[in-house]
Formats: sequence, C-alpha cells, structure tokens
Amino acid sequence: MSEQSEARSSAEVAAHVELHWTMAVGVIVVLLLAIITFTTIHWSTMPPSRVEVVDPATLHQSGEFVESNLGTGVDQRNRVVVHLLAEQYSFNPRCLVVPEGVSVTVRATSADVVHGFQILGTNVNTMLIPGYVSTFVMTLNGVGERAMPCHEFCGVGHAAMWATVRVVPRTEFETLIREKRRVSCG
Ligand code: CUA
Repeated sequence: MSEQSEARSSAEVAAHVELHWTMAVGVIVVLLLAIITFTTIHWSTMPPSRVEVVDPATLHQSGEFVESNLGTGVDQRNRVVVHLLAEQYSFNPRCLVVPEGVSVTVRATSADVVHGFQILGTNVNTMLIPGYVSTFVMTLNGVGERAMPCHEFCGVGHAAMWATVRVVPRTEFETLIREKRRVSCG
C-alpha cells in the first residue's frame, strides 16, 4: 500500500516537473514570436534609408541643413557634396549645380512631410522623409538642365514643387567653387 502511494507520488512529481518545463518552453516560444512580430512591424514601418536620423524641428538652426550650408560644396576629402532641404512646396536650393561626370554625394532631408526626389532622365529617385537623411551618390553625364520634380504627393502645392539640376562642365564647376563655398544657380 505504502509502496503504491510512493509510486503514485513520484509519478505526480514527474508530471509536475514536466508541466513546469513545458510552461517554461511555452514562455520562450511566445517571447520569440513576440520579438519576431515586433521587429517585423517596426522595420516595415521605417524607411529603408534610415541610416541617419536628424531632428526636423531644428534643421534651420543648426547642423548641416542650415541655410548657409545648402547647395553644392566640396568637403575635406575633396568629395562634391550636395545638401538639399525639401519643404512644402519647394526645394532649397531651387536649382542645383553639379559637375559633369563626377561622382556627387547627395545628402537631403525634409523639414515637414514626405517629399520625392527624382531627376528626370536618370535613375536618381528617392524619398525625403522628415527625421531621416537620405544619402546617395550619383554621377550625371551630359551638360545641361534637368528637371527635378517632387514625386510624392505632399499637399495642395505638390504639383508646383519642382527644382532644376544644372550639370556644368567640370572646369566651370571648379571656377564656381573657388569663388563661393556653396554653389547653386543664380
Ligand atoms: Cu513635395 Cu510633392
């Protein structure tokens, strides 16, 4: 009789321990599923070019997107860099000057809503998202002017939001950049 109850109780203990381990595994599985769900939603709601963040509220006061730093310049590493700011409903500068056949780094952002950045006749096409710096490298061939429309609906003035890209010969650009720290048309 006592042997029997002992056997039963050890079976109960085994069942009890098993239940605890099952619960522990269950908690881990649920936790992993929660992490997968959270990261999937979190990543899919963020733009792919989210490498760098910037505070859209202080763009005009400090940092690389202040008025005086907008336009085309040459950095310490001798790279041609364009800084561009999009706002309802214009680009600043309204007309970019870039040298022909030279790789140009573009750094751009938006001060308000999502805008589009596209240079017609090229594969340059990205979104400008408030809070993020869109950056890419482009090389434009062929001297002349190209249209740069905003291609993301950004409000009532969207259709009128255009800029121009003026591609100039390398020597002309070098002359311009010697005269001014930041170059844009006009
Ligand atoms: Cu800016 Cu459409």
